[in-house]
Amino acid sequence: MSRSRRRFLAESAVAAAALVHPGLRSFAADAPKKKVNSPFLEGNFAPVREEFTEENLKVTGTLPKGLEGMFVRNGPNPQFDPISSYHWFDGDGMLHGVRIRDGKASYRNRFIRTEKYTDEKKAGKALYRGILDMPDLKDLAGGKNPYKNPANTALVYHADKLLALYEIAEPYELKLPDLDTVGPTTFGGKVKQPFTAHPKIDPVTGELLFFGYVPNRPLVLFGTLNKKGEWVTTVPVKLEKPAMIHDFVVTPKYALFPAWPQTFDMARMLKGGSPWFFDKAQPTRWVVVPRDGKGQPKTFEAKTAFAFHLLNAWESGDEITVIGCRYPRFPGVLTFGEKEDDKTPNVSVPYQWTLNLKTDKLTETPLHDFAAEFPRHNDTLVGKEVRYGYVGYGEGDFFDGLRKLDLKTGKFTDHTYGAGRFGGEGVFVPKPDAKGEDDGWLLTFVYDKAADKSELLVMDAADMTAKPVARIHLPTRVPYGFHGAWVAGV
Ligand SMILES: [Fe+2]
Repeated sequence: MSRSRRRFLAESAVAAAALVHPGLRSFAADAPKKKVNSPFLEGNFAPVREEFTEENLKVTGTLPKGLEGMFVRNGPNPQFDPISSYHWFDGDGMLHGVRIRDGKASYRNRFIRTEKYTDEKKAGKALYRGILDMPDLKDLAGGKNPYKNPANTALVYHADKLLALYEIAEPYELKLPDLDTVGPTTFGGKVKQPFTAHPKIDPVTGELLFFGYVPNRPLVLFGTLNKKGEWVTTVPVKLEKPAMIHDFVVTPKYALFPAWPQTFDMARMLKGGSPWFFDKAQPTRWVVVPRDGKGQPKTFEAKTAFAFHLLNAWESGDEITVIGCRYPRFPGVLTFGEKEDDKTPNVSVPYQWTLNLKTDKLTETPLHDFAAEFPRHNDTLVGKEVRYGYVGYGEGDFFDGLRKLDLKTGKFTDHTYGAGRFGGEGVFVPKPDAKGEDDGWLLTFVYDKAADKSELLVMDAADMTAKPVARIHLPTRVPYGFHGAWVAGV
């Protein structure tokens, strides 16, 4: 193995340790077991341990003609009780899939059979430490990832493959429609690097654009797969400081990486603290990189902030507009062990940054003052101007409803789930013969507290206040989770 390859692996391992990383609790495998408490193990965050397969689900309303395919959502779902700590990002990936075909709907949920899942299944108990635990320094020194990849965060369907993603590790390939696990993929050995949970598919070229970052280095590796899923390029992008970057945006010509001041410092970790901290004295730095790797990147400074999720970006003359959901700082509820002293409100609001490539000026403004997260749009418009964004809103156990933002008028309309009902990310599915940007359906799982069951809701994106087009009743509850995808024609 070459020296540089060893170095990269070691750094990726630190990355893994880091990214997720360690509130740095020391850990002893033979320590007496205590029940691990976490809000992410309670209520409808608690895991379901059974795998269901059920055909001919009861439907309230009508499954629309043209909605044929499979909705799949990923999320953390620990197979066994954790041994020493639990962060929401730790749980084994579980897929919840609803297939709609010939006017009928079926459901199945499946654990993703990762190496972690398989080892622990064999042992009959949890074996691996969580991201709040001190990583094994021997693993780190040996270039081994001390944390196992649970593949629990998101999904992308590209080049006829469904992939489960986890930001700091390789994607896992899955089978459709049975949701069995094929195994991890490095795209023919060409992509051995952390792989974002939020890659983008260029709707014109069919390329898959992705990145990975190495938390202890000021570096992003920006990659492109062609429409057949074959690796084409990896472009190293230098940052001023190491940064946690969960999502990025692309336009036809550029990729834009937001280097938030959620930064990493190994010295803090070695002193027993969290290596991650939000350095509010630092600005956000947007790094704009030509997609073809030719030409110099440009960096724009914006106010200090943090965002998990961005909606979209587009070019217009010399300007690039970016829309996202922006927090004033990293949210303390997802702490990696750092202490939060700032008690001022920290909600993510719809927000716009405008970058002028000619004048090198950046302007920014909030678009609303309400909390919004998990922004989605019509994916046929990645990198192009969108009028509509769909965000989860509300301050209940999870989202109280989906809010459709009209970026042109500044107005919004809501679909509210009702008392005691909470939903997740809304995935937009265009109608096969769509005549406009919002001519389609929004799909999300909604949990009903009183029934302790979930439904897949099908909403009319063009008429948010209407009753759901269909409510597909599931045999179990679906724990609150992360991101979903629609695969047409499965
Ligand atoms: Fe995400």
